[in-house]
Amino acid sequence: MVSYITVPQKTSWMETPPRSPALRHLSWMLLARMPWLDQVSKPLQSWITKLFGQPEEPTYRVKDFLNGVWLGHVLHPVFVTVPLGAWSTTLMLDLAWLFDENNDVARCADMTMWLGLVGAGASAVTGVTNWVDTDGAEQRTGMLHALLNSGLTALNLTSAILRAAGKRRPAITLSTLSYAISLYSAYLGGELSYSAAIGVNHVAWQGGSDEFVAVMDEFDLVQGKPTRVDVAGIPAVLLKDGPTIYALAATCSHLGGPLDEGTYENGVLSCPWHHSGFRVCDGSVAHSPAVYAQPTFAVRTNNGKIELRRLEHA
Ligand code: FES
Repeated sequence: MVSYITVPQKTSWMETPPRSPALRHLSWMLLARMPWLDQVSKPLQSWITKLFGQPEEPTYRVKDFLNGVWLGHVLHPVFVTVPLGAWSTTLMLDLAWLFDENNDVARCADMTMWLGLVGAGASAVTGVTNWVDTDGAEQRTGMLHALLNSGLTALNLTSAILRAAGKRRPAITLSTLSYAISLYSAYLGGELSYSAAIGVNHVAWQGGSDEFVAVMDEFDLVQGKPTRVDVAGIPAVLLKDGPTIYALAATCSHLGGPLDEGTYENGVLSCPWHHSGFRVCDGSVAHSPAVYAQPTFAVRTNNGKIELRRLEHA
């Protein structure tokens, strides 16, 4: 007989109790009423995935670049600050213009509007690149976030054109409406980062022993086969290549996938979930969607046992 201590009704992070603040609950209700988001997301994700190709193809380097592998940091939040900052300035300048219709203030408002549009383009491209490797509630929320951003960018583009045509008052109405939408869209983006942990380093909080810990018998480790071991409570994956044994954290820094279930080829261990690749020699990222290096371990053998000690990373 099954007896529940708590009723397992929760189906996604959007329902995480408490259900207040109201905005999170309202967002969940909104997303639950939009099942068509999934129907749009899946074909779009599969089309973008095909466009980027496979990690061994040259086109995949574009994905690596847009994800931020070269920066060692997710690129999307870097660009997000541009439209948010620029359009906040536009709003302030527009309010100032409404008081005295100063031409210099109007020109500055127009410049920040265009700056925001350029930033919105970069933000959209990098955001979509992050989103393509999500699923479930995160995929749906990301889709709504993207649609809202597309809508508000279209409003701002129209506003910029109206400004150029001298129709400043209707232009200000449109950009103010767009700004209000951007606040909610920014909230959804924040939920994806801070509640659903999209774009964060999933091994940032993993510690490890400062002493060598015996993890398995040396002769039980099979050549080329990723093998999961426990290092004082931290999961690690061992990889034997020729005479050398490498050890990385087993939890993928991208979204926590099990690297010990991945594949190994040419010095790179690939995650089974979204195919991030890590160089076993130093844990660095060989290809995205991961952008954060895997923690590595010092390895030694001692009386037939493999022993590991966590290395600190700069
Ligand atoms: S969890 Fe996404 S690539 Fe590993």
